[in-house]
Amino acid sequence: MEARQSSRTALAAAAHRAAHQVIEGGLIFRDPLAIRILGESAETVALDAQRHPARRPMRLFIAVRTRFTEDAVAEASERGLRQLVVLGAGLDTYAYRHVGLATGGSECRDGLRIFEVDHPATQAWKRERLAAAGIAIPSNLSFAPIDFERETLDESLATAGFDPAQQTFFTWLGVVPYLTEEAVWLTLGFIARIAGGAHVVFDYSDPPESLSPEARVHHEIRAARVESLGEKWLCHFEPAALRARLNELGFTEIEDLGPPQIRARYFPDRAGPVPERGGHILRASTIQ
Ligand SMILES: C[S@@+](CC[C@H](N)C(=O)[O-])C[C@H]1O[C@@H](n2cnc3c(N)ncnc32)[C@H](O)[C@@H]1O
Repeated sequence: MEARQSSRTALAAAAHRAAHQVIEGGLIFRDPLAIRILGESAETVALDAQRHPARRPMRLFIAVRTRFTEDAVAEASERGLRQLVVLGAGLDTYAYRHVGLATGGSECRDGLRIFEVDHPATQAWKRERLAAAGIAIPSNLSFAPIDFERETLDESLATAGFDPAQQTFFTWLGVVPYLTEEAVWLTLGFIARIAGGAHVVFDYSDPPESLSPEARVHHEIRAARVESLGEKWLCHFEPAALRARLNELGFTEIEDLGPPQIRARYFPDRAGPVPERGGHILRASTIQ
């Protein structure tokens, strides 16, 4: 992404989450702050989504990836999770929706520390959006600026007060495709070495050349759109090779949902063909 400009795909992802609240009534993923942080009215959000019906699959994929992630975070929290890192947070609202859960008001109840890590320009823009929307920054949240292509996560997090001895959950939604493979593996290597054990959730896409002709057309349209926003997709993964390399790094538990598994879990009543390949959401853990 461009150095001085906040992420325009982060704005697009936030608009999809807001539209999901209005168009599908938050069926897959409910977010009471999604419209507010965007700074648009529900009517404007709905009109924009209706003008672009071809964007519906991406909207639903974003709803699914967020729901999958937050369910996994909730599960880990029940088992004593104390540290959450939201990588490439964009306008993600998790930290602002779980203030009661995380802090019990002003006092820490379950003590969940949250770190939002993002490109400095996007982070500065988010803070402006939060202030404009009147959304308070909770006391258990810290911001850690980073450029994944130039800086390492350990330095950025250490400055923000991160404790690598603690079990940590990393969410990394809508970011991996925009990075070089080298930056992705550097970050996954860091996560795998967290002394307290780690969970990570991220989304990725099958290599375009492995997609069906129809899925490939949709992929190319979306790729051209994000490139026109100045944020090109740079990497894709072959699922079996990705799993093998994650295993090598020390991730033992891996759950990878591709299009058929996403359909079965989140849209069981939907008829019609489902592509074998496309967007994936993956959860991996170094903890048995
Ligand atoms: C598509 S947005 C996703 C935002 C958010 N996770 C969501 O799901 O709405 C991509 C995010 O990755 C961040 N990003 C992209 N390239 C980056 C880089 N080289 N270093 C740091 N952050 C980066 C952007 O700032 C942006 O927040």
